[in-house]
Formats: sequence, C-alpha cells, structure tokens
Amino acid sequence: MTRIRLAIAAAALLATASSTVHSSARADDQDFALIERGRYVATAADCVACHSLPDGKPYAGGSALQTPFGTLVAPNITPDRETGIGNWTEEDLRRTLREGIGRGGKRLYPAMPYPAYTRMTDDDIRALWTYLRTLEPVSNAVEANQLPFPFNIRLLMAGWNLLNFEPEAFRPDPRKPAEWNRGAYLVQALGHCGTCHTPKTMLGADDTDRALQGANLQAWYAPPITADKRQGIGGWTADQLAAYLKTGANHQSLASGPMAEEIRNSSSKMTDADLKAIATYLLDRTPPDGKAPTALAADDGRMRTGGAVYTDTCMACHGGDGKGQTFLFPTLAGSGVVQADDPTTLIRLVLDGSRAAATNDRPTGPAMPPLGWRLNDADVAAVVTYIRNSWSNAAPPVSADDVAKVRRALAQAN
Ligand code: HEC
Ligand code: HEC
Ligand code: HEC
Repeated sequence: MTRIRLAIAAAALLATASSTVHSSARADDQDFALIERGRYVATAADCVACHSLPDGKPYAGGSALQTPFGTLVAPNITPDRETGIGNWTEEDLRRTLREGIGRGGKRLYPAMPYPAYTRMTDDDIRALWTYLRTLEPVSNAVEANQLPFPFNIRLLMAGWNLLNFEPEAFRPDPRKPAEWNRGAYLVQALGHCGTCHTPKTMLGADDTDRALQGANLQAWYAPPITADKRQGIGGWTADQLAAYLKTGANHQSLASGPMAEEIRNSSSKMTDADLKAIATYLLDRTPPDGKAPTALAADDGRMRTGGAVYTDTCMACHGGDGKGQTFLFPTLAGSGVVQADDPTTLIRLVLDGSRAAATNDRPTGPAMPPLGWRLNDADVAAVVTYIRNSWSNAAPPVSADDVAKVRRALAQAN
C-alpha cells in the first residue's frame, strides 16, 4: 500500500516537474484528491458490483453473470500481477473502457458495460486508474469464459463490434444547463442505467431508439425510467427521484433485487448534487408516445377473482386503496412497476417475495413475503391483473401462462 502510494507520488511529481517545482506535501494532496475522485468514479460506475463475490474481496473477481450469450464471470481487477491487472497501464484500462478490448487484445462481451463506459472522460479514467492501483493486490485466478460453443469463440465478438459498437465520446448538449449535462453523463456513461433499463436488439446491443424504455433481465424486468406518467416515472418530482436513488425508498416505491443492489453499492453513495442532476436529466427527456390501454371493467371475471385474492393476501400490507404505507409498503396505485407492459418483476415479487434496499439512511429494508407456494398460476395471474387495473391503473391482463414462464425462470435462477 505504502509502496504504491509512494510510486504514485513519484509519478505525479515527474508529471508536474517540468512546469513547476512542487513540495512533496502538495503532491501528496493532489494524489489524495485524485485517488478520492477515482474512488467516486468507481462507485458511480459500480465496478464492484460485478467484479466481486458478495462475501469475497472487493474487485478480486466476480460471480457468474447470466447473459443472453450464456454465463460470464467478471475478472480480477486488483493490481495483482499474475491474476489481476498489476501489469496493465492506464492506456490498457482506457482501451477496455472505451473500446471493449481486454487482456491480450481480446474482445470483451458487452456484459462488461463498455457500450456505456465508452463515453467516460479522460479525467475520470485517469482518476479511476489511480484509485485501482491503490487496491490491495489479491491473487485470485478467474475463469472468465464459461460460455457454450459457439459463443466461446471471441472472434465472433469482432463481428458483434463491427455491427453494434462504435467507441463514442460523451457529447454535452450546449443548449442545456450544466446540471442537465452532468445528469446525462452520469446516466449514459458512469451509471450505465441503460445496461439494465434499455431494451436490447437481437444481437444484445442497446436499442438506442428505445433508450431507457424498460428491459427484461431474464427473471427481472427493469421498468421504463422515462418521463412517461403511467409506465415510467413522469409523475415523480426530481426530489422524489433523488430520494429513491439515495435511500431506496420514496412516496411511491421501494427498490428490490438488482435495483436495490445498485442503490446500496452505488447511487446511495453519490452526492446529492449528482442525484439531483440525474433526476433533472431523466425527467426532462421527452416521453415516448403511447396510448394508455383501457382498464378492465370491475365486473370482468378476472377482476372479481383477482379482487378476492387481493383482499385475502395483499390488502393487509398494501391497503384497500392500493396506497400501502409510505416507506414500508409501496403504493401500487400509479406504480410504473405495476403497469409496465412486461409484468415479470410484478409476477416474481408475488411468487418469490423480496427484501427492499438497505441503505445508510434506511438500514432495514422491509420485506415482501414469498406467496408462490400458496397461490397457483391462475390466482397470481388474477391478482396481478387486478392491481394493474384498479385505482386508476390500466395495463394489459396477465395470463396463467405468463406466470408459469416466470416460475420456470425463477427455478432456473435459484
Ligand atoms: C455489469 C457487470 C460489470 C460491471 C458493472 C463492470 N464490469 Fe468489468 N467486466 C465484466 C465482465 C463480465 C467482464 C469479462 C467480459 C469478457 O470476458 O468478455 C469484465 C471485464 C473487465 C476488464 C478486462 C479484464 C481482463 O482481464 O481482460 C476490466 C479491466 C474491467 N472489466 C474493469 C471494470 C471497471 C474499471 C469497471 C467500472 C468502471 C467495470 N469493469 C464494471 C463485468 C462488469
Ligand atoms: C443491474 C440492473 C440495473 C441498473 C444498472 C439500474 N437499474 Fe434501475 N431498476 C432495475 C430493476 C430490475 C428495477 C425494478 C425493481 C424495482 O422496482 O425495485 C429498477 C427500478 C428502477 C426505478 C424505479 C421505477 C419504478 O417505477 O418504481 C428507478 C427510478 C430506477 N430503476 C432508476 C435507475 C437509474 C437512474 C439507474 C442508473 C443510475 C439505474 N436504475 C440502474 C435494474 C437496474
Ligand atoms: C407482509 C406484507 C406484504 C404482503 C402480504 C404483500 N406485500 Fe407486496 N410488498 C411488501 C413490501 C415490504 C414490498 C417492498 C419490497 C421490496 O421492494 O423489495 C412489497 C412490494 C410489492 C410490489 C413492488 C412495488 C414497487 O413499487 O416496486 C408489488 C407490485 C407488490 N408488493 C404486490 C403485492 C401483491 C399483489 C400482494 C398479494 C398477492 C402483496 N404484494 C402482498 C409487503 C407485502
């Protein structure tokens, strides 16, 4: 640790020696600032999420990631020479983030979110590199590529890149204020929100025409985070959105699953100014066109069955009016998760339950009990159809087949 700090101090001195002579105390301050900035970049980019096991050493290599291509494991990125990136240069890291090129020139799969990180600024990459050099080197060999043939042939990735990926710099919009542009940078580059929230093309690339309009992550659905009022977050104020990203809870919603993890590792540790910038940008984007479906009539058979299941199994927590209780039981009335076209998250929460995000501000996440053992596919279909079409909500009905599909995906994932 000390050796590395000294080496960095020396490098910083060399870099500045040509212009002015600095006292070593001053250089140390500069280093410290750069390392802290790098730590913040790593947090906002959530590098630790994939590059660590839940109970393993941070950055020493990750758990298996299920992707449309098959299973991938994120490698060790500590400064260990044999098994990590101890032999790398800053330029090597820049190539990984900007161009998706890894160790030995290999093309990386876009499960590593370089399609977002490609927009990172040079200054942020330099700070991130400086910070990564200060990590404790951990010897941990990771077999990254566990994909079935033919996807294990990385040359195919060259083809993917030609078709789908262009290195791209972040382009601020000069007509917009600095806060908006900061938000755009955080969403598009560091925060890589689109990795989960943007639908993918057949080849697994972001469908940029439908940016942030919601995407299926196998056993979860990341709902639209557009300014659409029904399926998106257009009904939230900037403060409400910032509160959700900071604490995992707001007047409407509690974060679960991958979003709870994102908040715990990343956005809960971002500055209030950055969260406000994200909110400003997201809520200012033009929502996609789309007509709301007509809600099912209250005397539809599915609504009557679903209403009965709701009274028996859900009402105690979520209330007869679907309003729940702020910070404890999410409000189902007006919820984007409830009304999203793709009901995967909704169904899985009923089947499998979930525990909401625990953050410093809200240390105990309330839990929703699993109910899949008590309710059959038809009951679950009825109750989610009911909440999708009550209290001014409106969304297409869900079938027992839809529920069976999510049950199968959960059985595979668990
Ligand atoms: C969503 C999960 C995810 C996140 C977030 C993520 N990575 Fe990765 N990363 C991966 C995966 C998976 C691979 C391996 C891809 C492959 O084998 O093609 C990888 C590969 C890499 C490599 C190449 C290592 C090698 O040995 O070739 C580096 C370096 C790297 N990531 C650094 C980072 C940094 C720095 C961040 C944060 C800015 C980050 N990653 C965020 C999943 C992730
Ligand atoms: C690893 C995948 C992942 C990443 C990365 C991610 N999200 Fe999410 N997000 C989800 C999932 C899944 C949900 C649905 C679960 C829930 O509502 O608790 C969700 C829910 C949300 C919601 C709540 C929507 C609602 O209607 O209740 C907001 C707001 C949100 N995400 C914003 C963001 C922002 C902003 C970023 C980037 C800084 C981001 N997310 C990055 C997966 C992700
Ligand atoms: C014991 C209390 C309890 C019961 C019973 C319960 N829930 Fe929940 N529910 C919760 C809690 C707590 C959460 C937040 C958990 C999380 O975010 O991970 C939640 C989350 C949800 C969400 C996600 C909302 C959002 O904004 O992300 C939906 C939808 C939902 N419940 C529907 C139902 C339905 C339908 C039933 C009945 C079949 C039901 N719940 C029964 C406590 C309960």
